[in-house]
Amino acid sequence: MKARKSLYAIGLLSMAFSMNVNAQNGERLFAAANPSAGKTMHAENNCAACHQQRTEKNEQAFYTRADRKVSTQEKLISQVAACSTQLNLGLFPEDELNLAAYLNREYYKLK
Ligand code: HEC
Repeated sequence: MKARKSLYAIGLLSMAFSMNVNAQNGERLFAAANPSAGKTMHAENNCAACHQQRTEKNEQAFYTRADRKVSTQEKLISQVAACSTQLNLGLFPEDELNLAAYLNREYYKLK
């Protein structure tokens, strides 16, 4: 009886633990990023200008278009890295993470 009770307690504990972990991981890959720094960088590097030139969509319309490519946080980070490489911006991975965190907070809202 006693053993069963403590098994029950362990079950409850691990359930609570995994729920807590899921809540904390709402931001998952961006938990340690700085979206405000990313916002500044997005403006300073004219990211929207090229997108607008190619698609005739402004910043908001481009990142929220129905047929957008990015569908996961991982893809968002690698797309930002691809564009930054194309631009030869010489950004550090940390900068790219901040940029992606800004876009996720503002437009993508991916979990
Ligand atoms: C030289 C042009 C150019 C520049 C500059 C540029 N991009 Fe892009 N970007 C593109 C093109 C082209 C696409 C793909 C558009 C398409 O598929 O219709 C794209 C797509 C994206 C996407 C994916 C959009 C989607 O469909 O979900 C993201 C995110 C993105 N760029 C981020 C950035 C960021 C951040 C910067 C600035 C650091 C940047 N880009 C600068 C050309 C550029």
